[in-house]
Amino acid sequence: MLNIALPKGRLGEKVYSMFEAAGYECDSIKENNRKLIFENLEKQVRYFWVKPSDVSIYVQRGAADIGVAGKDILLEYEPDVYELLDLNMGKCRMAVAAPKSFEDDGTKTLRVATKFTNIASNYYSALGRDIDIIKLNGSIEIAPILGLSDVIVDIVETGTTLKENDLEVKATILPISARFIANKAAFKFKGEQIEKIVSAMKEQIVYD
Ligand code: PRP
Repeated sequence: MLNIALPKGRLGEKVYSMFEAAGYECDSIKENNRKLIFENLEKQVRYFWVKPSDVSIYVQRGAADIGVAGKDILLEYEPDVYELLDLNMGKCRMAVAAPKSFEDDGTKTLRVATKFTNIASNYYSALGRDIDIIKLNGSIEIAPILGLSDVIVDIVETGTTLKENDLEVKATILPISARFIANKAAFKFKGEQIEKIVSAMKEQIVYD
C-alpha cells in the first residue's frame, strides 16, 4: 500500500484529480462526508487529507510515502524529503507587500509580519537589510494596516486580498507551485511503485 498525503482544500482537490487521471482513483474520496482516510485496495493506494503545511511532516517521518506540498512550505521548513516533480499547479508567488504609500528609505529596522519567517529572513539577509520579524499565523494583511508592521511577506495568488486591503506588491521573492515529494526510505523500498506513479503524474502536468 502506498500512503499519500494530500493537502486539504482547493489545491488538494485538483491534486487528487491529477492522481485520478493518472490511474490512481479512489472513488470513496468523493463521498460527501468528513472522513480523512480513503483507500483503494486494488490500486494499492491510501489517501489522507492533512493541513497543507503538515504534508511534509507526514512525508519526512514516513507516515506518508509520498505527498504534495507547496514550494513555500518546502523552503520555509526544509523537510528532509525528496522533491520529485513540479506539478505546475497551485501557482502563486511569495512577495513583499505594503500600503501603497509606504516606501522603505532604509533608515530604520524594517518590521516584517509573516508566517514565513525563514523565507523572509533569508530574503532580507541576502539584501543586507536589518529587520524585525513578527511571526503571525494568518490574516497577515492587517498587520501593516494596524501599524503592527511596515511590510508583510506573504503568498499572493490573484492579488485580490492585497487590493481589497489597499496594499500592493513591493517586490517578488519567489515563484511558488505544488511539488510531488517522497519519503527518502520509502523511495528506496517502494521505489518501483513510486517511480511508476511519478511517470503517470508527469503525463498529467499541464504546461502553460
Ligand atoms: C493566502 C495568503 C493571502 C491569500 C492571497 O491565504 O495568505 O491571504 O491567500 O490570495 P489572493 O492573492 O488570491 O487574494 P490562504 O487563503 O492560503 O489562507 P491563510 O490566511 O490561512 O494563509
